[in-house]
Amino acid sequence: MKILAIETSCDETSVAIVADGRHILANQIYSQIDIHKLYGGVVPEIASRNHLAKISQVIDSALMAARLGFADIDAIAVTNGPGLVGALLVGVNYAKTLAYALGKPLIAVHHIVGHIFAALAEYSALKPPFICLVASGGHTQLVVVEDYRKLTVIGTTRDDAVGEAYDKVARSLGLPYPGGPQIDALAKRGDGTAIHFKRSYLEKDSYDFSFSGIKSGVLNYINQQRQKGLTIDEADLAASFQEAVVDVLVDKSLMALNNYKMDSLVLAGGVAANSRLRARLTAATAQNGIALYAPSLKLCTDNAAMIGCAAYYVGDTKKSADLALNAVPSLTIANQ
Ligand code: KG4
Ligand code: ZN
Repeated sequence: MKILAIETSCDETSVAIVADGRHILANQIYSQIDIHKLYGGVVPEIASRNHLAKISQVIDSALMAARLGFADIDAIAVTNGPGLVGALLVGVNYAKTLAYALGKPLIAVHHIVGHIFAALAEYSALKPPFICLVASGGHTQLVVVEDYRKLTVIGTTRDDAVGEAYDKVARSLGLPYPGGPQIDALAKRGDGTAIHFKRSYLEKDSYDFSFSGIKSGVLNYINQQRQKGLTIDEADLAASFQEAVVDVLVDKSLMALNNYKMDSLVLAGGVAANSRLRARLTAATAQNGIALYAPSLKLCTDNAAMIGCAAYYVGDTKKSADLALNAVPSLTIANQ
């Protein structure tokens, strides 16, 4: 079963071909980051236009990389939400057109479900049940994955997503978008205990997250130092912010594993690329006898291979295309 998958929910135009939900035959990603960098963040209208300009080319290059033609494809998958509506619509319409023209099934995939199942491509033995920590620019969630089609979100962010907090802190230090990798690199030269930022755990036993307090703590610190005419050690600041964020992510993940009596943790989303989060989770899971599945960086940030993996497990690969499929910017995870 070869699935051609399309992902255009934000600023990456990506097309992949995935066989049997696990084998990536192609995963082409055209990133618009350099364009959006000029504005300090993603500009939705510009994102849609660039998806439109690039999508045909990216589809051709995925087929070429896999040495396949349209006739070899068994189904079309596409991210239909959540994300930027204009950006999503480009992928959804292209996928519908392809499915209709080729007479192939069309599978709609939730973007976060895609992130969660990206790990399947690299860990051949991985299967539910597991807990997934989704940490991206738009989402921070803890998801209990009992089965491929039985996913329960037990915790979510009440304000900023973790990647968003990274990006805003980076911006306040004058670092370019996306700020996460910049903070990660800067923090490597700093002391994570230099400045204390209050960790927000919310109510006892809550799996929800809140990062706006930590972010404001950093912004206040920067303003206070500047008002006093004092210099800011940016490496110490980055490391201290990161330590506060990672403490909460690690502690809540362990609490979920413990309470749900699960022994596998999957890491997903762009912030899963963070070196400190990976190191801390590697140590914490080893200490607690938990298997950690942290896919390589290319599978953590937005890509279409994750949509192709998820589509195989969550979609109906026999059903003919539902051409009424629409983009849903605030789509929630629904069990199939
Ligand atoms: O999953 P993703 O590619 O897009 C969304 O669906 O949001 O995540 C992008 C986010 C950005 O906020 C970016 O700053 C963050 O992931 N990110 C990182 C790192 N690499 C990417 N954050 C912290 N450390 C990193 N190394
Ligand atoms: Zn994403």
